[in-house]
Amino acid sequence: MAKKLWGGRFSKSTDKAVEAFTESISFDSRLIEHDIKGSIAHAKMLGKCGIIPEDDARKIVQGLRSILDDAISGSIKFDASAEDVHMNVEKLLFEKIGDIAGRLHTARSRNDQVCTDIRLFLKDEITRTVGLIRDLQKVLVDQAEKNAEVILPGYTHLQHAQPVLLGHHLMAYFWMLERDKGRMLDCLKRVDVLPLGSGALAGTTFSIDRKMVAQSLGFAAVSDNSMDSVADRDFISEFLSAAAIIMVHLSRFSEEIIIWNTSEFKFVDLDDSVTTGSSIMPQKKNPDVAELVRGKSARVIGDLMSLLTLQKGLPMAYNRDLQEDKEPLFDTVDTVQLSLTVFALMLETAKFNVPRMHAAAGEAYSTATDLADHLVRKGIPFRSAHEQVGSLVAYCVENNKELFDLTIDEIHRFAPESADDVASALTVEASVAARSATGGTALSEVKRQIEKAREMI
Ligand code: ARG
Repeated sequence: MAKKLWGGRFSKSTDKAVEAFTESISFDSRLIEHDIKGSIAHAKMLGKCGIIPEDDARKIVQGLRSILDDAISGSIKFDASAEDVHMNVEKLLFEKIGDIAGRLHTARSRNDQVCTDIRLFLKDEITRTVGLIRDLQKVLVDQAEKNAEVILPGYTHLQHAQPVLLGHHLMAYFWMLERDKGRMLDCLKRVDVLPLGSGALAGTTFSIDRKMVAQSLGFAAVSDNSMDSVADRDFISEFLSAAAIIMVHLSRFSEEIIIWNTSEFKFVDLDDSVTTGSSIMPQKKNPDVAELVRGKSARVIGDLMSLLTLQKGLPMAYNRDLQEDKEPLFDTVDTVQLSLTVFALMLETAKFNVPRMHAAAGEAYSTATDLADHLVRKGIPFRSAHEQVGSLVAYCVENNKELFDLTIDEIHRFAPESADDVASALTVEASVAARSATGGTALSEVKRQIEKAREMI
């Protein structure tokens, strides 16, 4: 029977099924580099503060560095009977340096160790995620600039509403991602606090220097309450929540790409490199990237739900339930980062069908609001103008005509105050150009957004 590091009070070995059930090394081995870095900082502090002999601290640090090298080169064989990453590292340290290894776990617990590891991990992953968001934003701004003047139908209720510039439409997603970035960076502030030194829950009897550990690990602050520190997973909930919102944004965009890519719409052509075929239908080229991003958003929303549900019944302080925080976290990190990466590829190589978008933009009375606005400028209250144009549209529907098919006489019949040059106000170009108030779809405003966006990224 391999003796457990906590085996002193036990006279029987752990049941195999229980061992398999309680182990976390199969997934928390992913934290090994962060775990070792945390231990190195802790050991140095123990030596410096005279809590363990400085010479032992040096040997521990050396041993840990050599395990870190092994971890980076991938040569470590983990042992499931050693339960988790923390005890696997400690066991490896015993193998490297002998009994001195037993001094490392002074003045700490796995409870403050594990949340330190996750925080270190998450700091790296938030930085990486923010970088990927920025990469996608760059693609968006490039595409928005390239297609700034392309006109397409703007929709509400997935019905033609008013024409918009493609640059405007694409930039809408830029701003969503900008808020996503903000949420990630805001979350980072709360991740950036060191829990190590909280012990199992009540603090430690040794005169440790937590500030020193925080400094060597690059944490901005140390936590104030040991019980809160070991029980807190808010920072993971926040990250998963910010990630879920990113995925919802990408999922909505995916849905649009999928619709735009249908043979009915034909607004966009996706590159061969980001699409896949069918095993039976030779003609198929499917927008699988967009579909999978939409599909994977479900996992990330699920991960967030798992984590919130995991915590909701937990009394103070640490409970083993919290071991279940890691898989949803890792799954979300991987899913959101991959989704951002492939989405950028898909968008970068997408070709927009300009004539098709332009033709569709004028259909279905999309400039009816412009006619109403025209009448308002002639002194008619908006409600009456709305009524007049509504009747005109009903006439068009009945006679199978578009607004741009109408003669001036037909328009006058329903809207007598309209001017003779009204037709020029009803083109999609005029409609778009007229919306020049801040945040509107006029080219000047789209250019202003693009310029502001370029400065931000
Ligand atoms: N593997 C555990 C986790 O991830 C580490 C902490 C375990 N602490 C304990 N007292 N059993 O939460």
